[in-house]
Amino acid sequence: MSTTSRPHPTAGVETAEASVSKDSLTITDNRNGKSYEIAIQEGTIKAVDLRQIKLGADDFGLMTYDPGFMNTASCKSRITFIDGDKGILNYRGYPIEELAEKSTYLETAYLLIHGELPTEQQLAAWTESIKQHTFVHENVKELTGGFRYDAHPMGMLSSTISALSTFYPDAKRVRDLELRRKHVYRLIAKIPTLAAFAYRHLMGMPYVYPDSELSYCGNFLQMMYKGSELRFKVNPVLEKALEVLFILHADHEQNCSTSVMRNIGSSEADPYVAAAGAIAALYGPLHGGANEAVLRMLKEIGSKDKVAPFIKDVKESGGDVRLMGFGHRVYKNYDPRAKIIKKMADQVFEVTGRNPMLDIALELERIALSDDYFVKRKLYPNVDFYSGLIYQAMKFPVDLFPVLFAIPRMSGWLAQWQEMIDDKDQKIARPRQIYLGHDRREYLPIAKRG
Ligand code: ACO
Repeated sequence: MSTTSRPHPTAGVETAEASVSKDSLTITDNRNGKSYEIAIQEGTIKAVDLRQIKLGADDFGLMTYDPGFMNTASCKSRITFIDGDKGILNYRGYPIEELAEKSTYLETAYLLIHGELPTEQQLAAWTESIKQHTFVHENVKELTGGFRYDAHPMGMLSSTISALSTFYPDAKRVRDLELRRKHVYRLIAKIPTLAAFAYRHLMGMPYVYPDSELSYCGNFLQMMYKGSELRFKVNPVLEKALEVLFILHADHEQNCSTSVMRNIGSSEADPYVAAAGAIAALYGPLHGGANEAVLRMLKEIGSKDKVAPFIKDVKESGGDVRLMGFGHRVYKNYDPRAKIIKKMADQVFEVTGRNPMLDIALELERIALSDDYFVKRKLYPNVDFYSGLIYQAMKFPVDLFPVLFAIPRMSGWLAQWQEMIDDKDQKIARPRQIYLGHDRREYLPIAKRG
């Protein structure tokens, strides 16, 4: 495979087929007729190879313009594979359906971080290490207590995760493998504690400390909901449902928040502040905030008979009103995670009672999937369309939905962050721009302006 790029040997002349590598792209610059041969590797060309395409010595050279990274690979990764057209999602080669059925969240987190499913001993040691780190410094309670009574829990979570950076100054040594391992344990272990503290603060309830006798999800449920009883009884159906939801949300390759984690990490900032940034990115309604937005949308629609007029509004709004929980940058087919969640919903509703908004959601899906507007644009339900209904049935307040996304995504962010730190190709993230502003201007003293 050709790995270098160079001006085409027959620059400006018709391409001589024999001298051109098969794994390359020949580009002709019609401004001056010059041709260039650019190497193709793993289905990509290197953007910097385009820089040689220039009109003169003082020309910067050609760049690509790609807002939102619609067609730019920013890294090589071995973690998560998505085929958006076929609706396939694999972690480290294992289909999401199989992991959701057979694994626990912590086992999946191990897989993402280490690249292999753990043996029994490895899983026991990993689980023990996570459980050892679930407690947070007592000062963190004061920090949480300082927020307003109605603070959004995502803002609180991003802040408290960021604050952990100040408790562990050695986290800056991102290339120290031993230290890095510890910070990975800490972040995976402490995020449910911080999330539950945020919730208890909003409810004006005393904080509940972690219980190492329980599973990762069981412990989270008890930190959220334990009342005056001596021991909180975890419902096994709800615990399993949370395990599955956490597995489905654990990683999703180079999405908005993961790219933020990598971008902040590329400056060698510590993983706590990088994760705080990733949480902030996840907060937005177009990303992890979508499950919250779905519930608000269903509530606003109100009843099954209002679904058709709502769909009409969406179509006529020119993109301003969106059917939340529908569409995805990568999936142009049914999101495989949404399929699993939809199936699981019935088991949860058997315990919690049916969520009355399910009927509105099913009607929305039925109409949208047969409507030309959505079919033509390949808009299918994504992971957020049904997850909110389950979370709501499990008594999680709507504000907490994006937090429930952030908890399991921590393992994916950390796996991606580690991969980035160890990748010799990576550099500090620093995109280019096309400058469209003024040329140099004369500075006017304030009295002469206007
Ligand atoms: N409802 C109605 N129309 C939509 C929707 C939607 N949910 N999503 C996309 N479209 C339309 C757009 O208006 C656009 O139409 P046009 O071609 O006539 O202009 C077309 O479909 C393409 O949409 P884009 O915004 O260009 O697609 P993009 O890949 O940039 O956006 C996104 C993907 C942000 C997820 C979008 O589908 C969306 O806003 N969905 C709703 C929010 C949501 O559910 N987000 C969760 C995503 S999953 C996650 O982050 C875990």
